[in-house]
Amino acid sequence: MTEHTQVAIIGAGPAGLLLGHLLHLYGIDSVILENRSEPYVIERVRAGVLEQHVVDMMVATGVGDRLQRQGLRHGGVYLAFDGRRHHIDFEELTGKSIWIYGQNEVVRDLIDARRGTGRPLHFEVDQVRVAGFDGESPTVRYVDGDVEHTLHCDYIAGCDGFHGVSRPAFPKGLLSTYERIYPFGWLGILAHAEPTSEELVYALHDRGFALFSMRSPTVTRLYLQCDPDEDISVWSDDRIWSELGTRLGTDDGWRPKEGPIFQKGITPMRSFVVEPMQCGRLFLAGDSAHTVPPTGAKGLNLAAADVRVLADAFWRQYSGRGGAALEAYSETCLKRVWKAQRFSWWMTSMLHLGPQDAPFARFDYRRQVAELDYLTGSRAGMTSLAENYVGLPMDVPLPGLVRA
Ligand code: APR
Ligand code: PHB
Repeated sequence: MTEHTQVAIIGAGPAGLLLGHLLHLYGIDSVILENRSEPYVIERVRAGVLEQHVVDMMVATGVGDRLQRQGLRHGGVYLAFDGRRHHIDFEELTGKSIWIYGQNEVVRDLIDARRGTGRPLHFEVDQVRVAGFDGESPTVRYVDGDVEHTLHCDYIAGCDGFHGVSRPAFPKGLLSTYERIYPFGWLGILAHAEPTSEELVYALHDRGFALFSMRSPTVTRLYLQCDPDEDISVWSDDRIWSELGTRLGTDDGWRPKEGPIFQKGITPMRSFVVEPMQCGRLFLAGDSAHTVPPTGAKGLNLAAADVRVLADAFWRQYSGRGGAALEAYSETCLKRVWKAQRFSWWMTSMLHLGPQDAPFARFDYRRQVAELDYLTGSRAGMTSLAENYVGLPMDVPLPGLVRA
């Protein structure tokens, strides 16, 4: 079967769905192709912190109603070390805040919006292959049911995550890869337990990092630094709660409230970037081009920033304003990507224990505590953290807003 569209989007994660949404508002056609099922894509457990500019974009483009009703607005975070919690007041330092709203909720809202437009969104497609993007007529071939489809398009957006097919389709030798793998992972849980802190707590302890987060007034999200190849079965619920209490608990008696654990998983920690993020008429966005370690929660926010730049560049091209923004896509995005990489690496290095058999392990721990002590006592230090955490400025216009 042969079909046509303007932009073929591979992947229905946050990047692909948000791109489809923005393109729709610009009046640009797209087809979204996803190889997993809809429930899988919605229920996949991921991070849950949105930068202010992502929230503003969702609200301004009509997909922010539930976020405004159910999202939790946070004015800062806590850093905990040496038995004490220290507040970093984002609102006071930057005038901005962050929002707690699960990535799966964002995905659910974007799928609903897509369905409302009647534009194509195909789940459980197979054998997606991209071709012809070095010329004028790219194609995406895929199998849906038993039927082989050929989708002709003007452009392809590779929003298919770290394990997708778009990045490997780049010609050999074109991509430079920058990577750093960390010698630890995060064991994450979701529990039916009322959050006992109104804001997130990032803790450095001599037994390792821990993070207190939440999803709603009745659900707590917690993480523990663990070995990257940890066998999750050795972590009983009792052991997890005991370790969380030890690492997060402070001298004033604060600790997370316990409750039934209903989800457990291990997240690897990797910093990864490819350059460039485009080749001819194929553009990578989100995790297909870059991943960050989760400390600082930049993954989803960076994906949203990429597709905002890409949608605007497509609009400029289609509305006769020229192709300069499209040509500059990779360069524009990579500036933000590298700043987010730096921030995520810095937060990760400051808050995690390196291998304990390393010669400088004891020195490093004391140095990290000193860094946290300096940071929480310095307005300049806290402002730097706050500016990066709430999201660096994003000045790309949105569909329907200021248009020269
Ligand atoms: N064909 C079609 N779809 C594919 C293919 C393929 N060959 N390979 C992967 N996909 C789909 C995945 O199933 C997934 O739904 O592409 C989607 C990519 O989504 P994500 O991995 O969520 O990546 P992205 O949309 O870039 O989101 C950014 O932010 O919180 C972070 O890492 C987290 O996923 C998050 C990211
Ligand atoms: C989360 O709530 O899942 C979360 C919060 C902050 C992070 C990472 C993940 O840095």
